[in-house]
Amino acid sequence: MKKTVLSGMRATGKLHLGNYFGAAINYVKMQEEDLNCFYFIADWHSLTTQHDSALLRKSVKEVLVNYLACGLDPEKSSIYVQSDVKEISELYLYLNMFAHKGELEKTASFKEKSRTKGQTINAGLLTYPVLMAADILIHRANLVPVGKDQEQHLEMTRTFANRFNHVYKTDFLPEPQAYNFGNELVKIMSLDGVGKMSKSDENERNAIFLDDEPEDIRKKIKKAKTGNTPETPNEEKSPAVEGLFSLMKLVSKEETYSFFNQEFNACSIRYGDFKGQLAEDIVKYFEPIREKIKQYSADDKYLLKVSQDGAEKARINAQASLKGMREIIGINYFK
Ligand code: TYM
Repeated sequence: MKKTVLSGMRATGKLHLGNYFGAAINYVKMQEEDLNCFYFIADWHSLTTQHDSALLRKSVKEVLVNYLACGLDPEKSSIYVQSDVKEISELYLYLNMFAHKGELEKTASFKEKSRTKGQTINAGLLTYPVLMAADILIHRANLVPVGKDQEQHLEMTRTFANRFNHVYKTDFLPEPQAYNFGNELVKIMSLDGVGKMSKSDENERNAIFLDDEPEDIRKKIKKAKTGNTPETPNEEKSPAVEGLFSLMKLVSKEETYSFFNQEFNACSIRYGDFKGQLAEDIVKYFEPIREKIKQYSADDKYLLKVSQDGAEKARINAQASLKGMREIIGINYFK
């Protein structure tokens, strides 16, 4: 039987290079394989942190446009918005009975948010990993293409699935695995070298978005942190410099990367030249995607059709899983 792939992104803004190299690039490759692919826009998840209706609408559209511009093909993959598949919310309810409060409180993302929000933190944030597990298990997915930051959430999905299977003495839910074609899960660093590239506001200038205009890309890379030129041959790169080199590895020719790497190791690197080259290669790499973003953004009719068709396909699969789960749980009275 064909394996099932599921993944998604929160509707909290435009996609950046982290989203692309950590996840979207794999989505596109996987749809070319003999796999059953589902990709969605996590609008419910974004409600855990933002309550701005206009922004929500804008973000959902942006993510869908970005998906299509990256190469997701509605003929090959089911592309849908999470809230169009209400079956997910029923499964979320069931899975909440298999999630322990203690383990949810220990999740890295929850701990980080509760540091700033304290006691007013909402329950949706606590159960964020449960909703994510529901997204995955509603399709009984086997492979989940994600970046490194989602590894812990995947582990929790396996825990909930195993608990359910154990309690009901079934093997109905598979154990989904985080997936990346290059084996190791990817983490693209923020341009200041501190933490991962992210969509959050304070990091806006430290992230490169897929629709950034060439001038903006050049400015951002120019400002990216590098520090002093190396003084000892072959010295270890700082996280910021390492981050820029790993971007170069992804967007530039191999000989360009080796040239600058040798220059670094020989302590003769000129960061101005290095960044200039990196910026041009990013500009070139994303040119076709930038163009397609403009094209799809202007075609609301097509976007509506893609999301409706995708939701329909996703619902059929989701309903089949939910029917199986209801039977296992015993929700089939008076028949
Ligand atoms: P989100 O929206 O934060 O990110 C979407 C995808 O991009 C990856 N990513 C990165 N990869 C490498 N380097 C980075 N700097 C970087 N930043 C983001 C993420 O790993 C992710 O794959 N909880 C999820 C959304 C979600 C989901 C799911 C994913 C909800 N339900 C079910 C998979 C399956 C999230 O917040 O991703």
